[in-house]
Amino acid sequence: MRIPGIREEVVEKLRFMFEPNSVAVVGASRDPGKIGYQCLRNLVEGGYGGRIYPINPNADEIMGLKCFPSLSEVPGEVDLALIVVPARIAKSAIEDCVRKGVKAVAMITAGFSEIGKKEEEDEIVRICRENGIPLLGPNIVGISNSWKKCNASFCQSLPYAGRTAFISQSGALAIALIGWTWLYRVGLSSMASIGNKADVDFSELILYFGERDEHTNCIAMYIEGLDAGPEFIEACRRVSPKKPLVALKAGKSERGVAAAASHTGSLAGAPLIYSAAFKQCGVIEVSSLIELFDSALALSLQPPMLGDFPLIITNGGGAGVVATDAAERYGIPISDSPPDLAKSLRKYMPEFGSAKNPVDLTGMGTADKYEGAIREALAHPGVDGLAVLYCHTAITSPMKVAEAIYGPYSELKNNKPIVAAFIGGSECEEAASWLKERGVPAFPSPERAMRALSALRAYGRIRRRFGG
Ligand code: COA
Repeated sequence: MRIPGIREEVVEKLRFMFEPNSVAVVGASRDPGKIGYQCLRNLVEGGYGGRIYPINPNADEIMGLKCFPSLSEVPGEVDLALIVVPARIAKSAIEDCVRKGVKAVAMITAGFSEIGKKEEEDEIVRICRENGIPLLGPNIVGISNSWKKCNASFCQSLPYAGRTAFISQSGALAIALIGWTWLYRVGLSSMASIGNKADVDFSELILYFGERDEHTNCIAMYIEGLDAGPEFIEACRRVSPKKPLVALKAGKSERGVAAAASHTGSLAGAPLIYSAAFKQCGVIEVSSLIELFDSALALSLQPPMLGDFPLIITNGGGAGVVATDAAERYGIPISDSPPDLAKSLRKYMPEFGSAKNPVDLTGMGTADKYEGAIREALAHPGVDGLAVLYCHTAITSPMKVAEAIYGPYSELKNNKPIVAAFIGGSECEEAASWLKERGVPAFPSPERAMRALSALRAYGRIRRRFGG
């Protein structure tokens, strides 16, 4: 049911959804093969510190926790009810939530508007709205909050902890991407699967994460379609000067539009309209899942690039050329180093190196050469951002180069973004992970590093345009 405008009171109550002090799993099952069992297990084994109440009229105890036949019989307050009973009894579960005075509901249960059962869905939404209970879903995978260790979902684990809030219109994708958060060290503060978005909408989640959640400094979204366009635009306009928003709009092709309609019942709409709307309200649009993650990683770790002079430092001419091509593709201007900078950079390369841009330290680029060049670049007032590329050679180890990046970055902290690319095998991957854990986004290819830098530049431009 379309939201009747942004509801500030709902935004406020989302704290009960994402930072609950108690969670009831309605439909907690004794059977490990069922979603209701896995949700309970995730809360218990994920290390959630609040109270957990399994609700199941057919069980006395699950995983050592006392089971309650209904919510009304729970002795304490319930902040979040996670609904995992079949659709046919979902309405009575919601009525039980009302009786109990539950503060927020996340409904995993499928079988509503996505299969044409709109009336049943509307009825549940009506009850929730009349009683001031925000409802997320139905047809979701759940929610998680890494800082609270609250995994109220049937994802395989909590995400790798970090500062990006991920809002996904696809639950299955959210599940799969939790694996990526660990693999690529893209830290999430919270994950919200939004499913049919029958009640709580994108706009309210954006405002919650943007204005009320201090653990979040970047919001990443997977969007198939929006029902409440003006509210989305209003929320993004409010948040974009404070925190970066990055979105992947899926369902852009002709068949993709049809697929989105049958997946979440979304009106995918004309792709160009979405792109124009994103521009209007300060959302950085990306065109693939990997770009979404890479951009979120950079935006959550680094400051925006406020000017238009990024410097590329490399030990491989080819990597520099690839990065330059990528820069052009992403609209990042690349121009020669200012003469005074070029002169000081010359100290860190042999005669046959290049101090232009890309700065080529050549294959003789040892860790100390990298460190010297990075220091010069960061200290120079004309440099607005840095991309450091490293091709694995026998001359120096990837970890030494990672340390050479981290040293000046952590000492100078002068608000200039840095991204890195480590091109090579497992040692490169280790060095990149080490850097990411310390706040420097690092990627396996120059193109991905430049794409991430372009997101930081885009956010710099948004900040200039919208303030903040
Ligand atoms: N209150 C609480 N629990 C109740 C109950 C009630 N009124 N009535 C029954 N239960 C218990 C059942 O006894 C069962 O526990 P048990 O296994 O220990 O007996 C548990 O609730 C689950 O009920 P069950 O009928 O077995 O449901 P299910 O596990 O087969 O399916 C859903 C429930 C919600 C998982 C299913 O309907 C569904 O929607 N699946 C799709 C979810 C999905 O994909 N979402 C989108 C993700 S992208």
